[in-house]
Amino acid sequence: MKVIQTKNYQDMSEKAAQFILEKIKSKPDFQLGLATGGTPVTTYQNLIQDHQTNQTSYQLVTTFNLDEYIGLSNEDPNSYHYYMNKHLFSEIDIPADQTFIPNGLAEDLERECIEYDALISKYNGIDLQILGLGHNGHIGFNEPGTPFDKQTHIVTLADSTVEANARFFDSIEDVPTQAITMGIGSIMKSKEILLLVSGREKHEALQKLLHDEVNELFPASILQRHKNVTIIADEDAIIGKD
Ligand code: F6R
Repeated sequence: MKVIQTKNYQDMSEKAAQFILEKIKSKPDFQLGLATGGTPVTTYQNLIQDHQTNQTSYQLVTTFNLDEYIGLSNEDPNSYHYYMNKHLFSEIDIPADQTFIPNGLAEDLERECIEYDALISKYNGIDLQILGLGHNGHIGFNEPGTPFDKQTHIVTLADSTVEANARFFDSIEDVPTQAITMGIGSIMKSKEILLLVSGREKHEALQKLLHDEVNELFPASILQRHKNVTIIADEDAIIGKD
């Protein structure tokens, strides 16, 4: 795994956007895997800024998001559909029918999971998957204990994840307790992975990811086994000074 240390969140976000842009420019029909949450917000802002200034085009890009809550409509401000439209899609020239996010309102959720993996395969897999890191080592919504070979599946969120995500909702009771997520098996099929980590509170998780033995109780540790992972992390996350 290659680790790039940046001064701060801003710097991490700029370097991440540059990283993604280089890839898209070298392969315009790029398959890009996306994450939500707090970490990539400014990376997406930088992509938007570049699109406005340099007209980098997303006409041929296809995106696949990692996950979506079960039970929220696409118009719900807390859904990841809403998040992606707000933070990226509505501000770049990507055709809407080339942006894929699991449907958390599907009548048959099990089938939705199978079809999501089939869709990714149909596009010949993900060229670059962007990931954030959960405090407990989750990637996507793969909580500790999730078997490494799982493909896209339905999960019940850990209490700590519900608590961490409550900051985006009016109250913790409003946080859905279930989600659809790409599994570790689906994520590991990506040709390349870019993990973004920022902040003192992610320091312990980053240390475990880098140094612990690979184990299912710390899902992100699996990344040690992927051939092409870049971690862009800020000083606070890497050094962890109080
Ligand atoms: C988001 C996702 C999650 C987040 C993780 C970190 O699509 O799959 O794994 O990346 O929870 O979230 P933040 O960035 O809010 O700290």
